[in-house]
Amino acid sequence: MDEKEKQQLLKDAVDHIIPHFASWELLEKQPKIFMRGEGCYLYDIDGKRYLDTFASLLTTICGHHQPVVDQAIRDQLEKLEFFPNYVDTFTVPLIELARKLDTVMPGDLGVCFFVNSGSEANETALKMARQFHLENGESQRCKVLFRRHSYHGTTLGGSSATGLPWFREYFEPLLPGYVASYSARCALCELGLRPESCDLACLKMMEQQIQWEGADKFSALIMDPVPGSNIGFPIPPDGYLQEVRALCDRYGMLLIFDEIQTGFGKTGRMFACQHWNVVPDIMAIGKGFTGGYIPLGATVTTPRIYKVFQKAGHELRSGSTYGGHTLACAATLANIRVIEDQGLVEAARLRGAYLRKKLESLSSHRIVGDVSGIGLLQALFLVADNKEKNPLDPNLKVGSFIRDYCYANGMIMRNNGDILVMAPALIITEEQIDEAIGILEQALAAAVKHFKL
Ligand SMILES: Cc1ncc(COP(=O)(O)O)c(C=O)c1O
Repeated sequence: MDEKEKQQLLKDAVDHIIPHFASWELLEKQPKIFMRGEGCYLYDIDGKRYLDTFASLLTTICGHHQPVVDQAIRDQLEKLEFFPNYVDTFTVPLIELARKLDTVMPGDLGVCFFVNSGSEANETALKMARQFHLENGESQRCKVLFRRHSYHGTTLGGSSATGLPWFREYFEPLLPGYVASYSARCALCELGLRPESCDLACLKMMEQQIQWEGADKFSALIMDPVPGSNIGFPIPPDGYLQEVRALCDRYGMLLIFDEIQTGFGKTGRMFACQHWNVVPDIMAIGKGFTGGYIPLGATVTTPRIYKVFQKAGHELRSGSTYGGHTLACAATLANIRVIEDQGLVEAARLRGAYLRKKLESLSSHRIVGDVSGIGLLQALFLVADNKEKNPLDPNLKVGSFIRDYCYANGMIMRNNGDILVMAPALIITEEQIDEAIGILEQALAAAVKHFKL
């Protein structure tokens, strides 16, 4: 492709496409067009290679161009590209995927409602909880409890359950009955307490909120067992998730876990909640579920919940044309097989420990603060000085400078302000982690020099 054609593509991209959560700042700098992917690497329109440490927004967890998944899609394409999972119709890949999920999901989660995205999976979970109580004769249970630092999707339901103000502010007032509660971000505890001595005070406050709002008014608590990249993967304190489970049981609320970011091996277990042996009533999955091939999400619940719908003789009042797309199911099934056959959950645990050690080894840099995360989900907090751990001036945009430096030097890395986030594919090797840390180290040094920190 000649230079003129490339420039025209870039111009048309910017003139005719609104990117999701578009960044004017970045669009004005240098929009990017990707052409090819191989394993953990991507190639742009100029043929330049990038190591992707964020796995295409936490999706391509078995790498690009995974031969087993490529072949599964080709095979399915020969037979049937699509027939909807509508009213009373199924396809074989859809059934096989449901069967597979029944074996890999924690506890007795094994009844699936297939959708097209993570947002839709959460949206369905919220509707499912609401209708479950209605069928049980408790139609007054329509409130939803959510936590202040979590992201649960882009739809109005998901936005109403999202605690991060940036995602909400232009759309207020959001849905009624959504009650914001405390998160367990211990390093920056909202109550100013320390995890060693707090006695899980945040959950006591949550319980008071439930009582104050009406103990029989809540349908569900929606939460992410390990919150996502937006706030740097904070790990819940000991006993926290068990207490959350007990709290929901005490007040007859369903517990919804959003494992859209954390599911399918990234934490070093198949699902994050398995680190603490806590099983929700409903789990929303998406992103890495499909290996990034074809959009698919799922809301997975237990036979106990499903039986209430069956007994009432009412269908779950939800659905979409493409939910459970035939090709997407074939790809997802192959993706899960790759994870299992190649032992990628254990690989993520081992490579995650290696990545963590390497990130911690950067602590001699003046602007490197804490590292937090689990498995291959890791975040590095930039600070003004690593003794006092004071925050950097956000107006400097040091995190963005580092991201741009990495990009210019062949590495895709996500930053959320001054939190640098890494969540590479499960197939990443130690050599590739070394490559990433090498580029990051140069970027940190460049930032210190550029900002005279
Ligand atoms: C924790 C979490 N929940 C929900 C979503 C929404 O998923 P999707 O973007 O596929 O709609 C995301 C996406 O970033 C997420 O990280």
